[in-house]
Amino acid sequence: MKKIAIFASGSGSNYQAIIDSVKAGVLETSVELLVCDNLNAFVLERAKQENTPSFAFDPKEYRSKADFEKQIAAEIKNRDIDLIVLAGYMRLIGPVLLQEFPNRIINIHPSFLPAFPGKDAIGQAVKAGAKMTGVTIHYVDEGMDTGPIIAQETLPILEIDTEDTLAKKIHEIEHRLYPEMIQVLLQQISAKIRR
Ligand code: GRF
Repeated sequence: MKKIAIFASGSGSNYQAIIDSVKAGVLETSVELLVCDNLNAFVLERAKQENTPSFAFDPKEYRSKADFEKQIAAEIKNRDIDLIVLAGYMRLIGPVLLQEFPNRIINIHPSFLPAFPGKDAIGQAVKAGAKMTGVTIHYVDEGMDTGPIIAQETLPILEIDTEDTLAKKIHEIEHRLYPEMIQVLLQQISAKIRR
């Protein structure tokens, strides 16, 4: 069975959706590790509840990003992880992890990229008066939400939508699409290994 690590910084509803898909038998993977850069994040409570081992750290306690990424890389290598899944990890991935795990790090972003990259993508779309937004799953490169796109789904923004209603609809898409795409990617990884 292929193994994944999830990186998150906040509430972790996407972490939960992945766990729930595994429990439901629709996503065949083992969630081996949660990496969290915020010691107060609710996702850590979820991980405890679900018995996912976690590596939580405070970036301020390290001299540099390279220092904490080296430690993360060691945790991941120890567990033979096949895919790193960013789910609300509010930090750019640096050269240490990118070089160690090429084409093995994916992210989900709450907009139809390349529109509205970066923080508060939902708020950005509403403020811009956009008629359409969506969800993007992409490989991670050194840029901010710029890596090759794996899957996208659009969502119309209605006159009556607020940031809250839009966020709810976007999360619903994310919670379905991310587990689906992780399953597809893990199958591709298995096929490549067999070839
Ligand atoms: C999601 O909207 C995701 O697209 C973005 O951060 C949010 C994380 O939400 N990258 P949650 O912590 O999974 O609830």
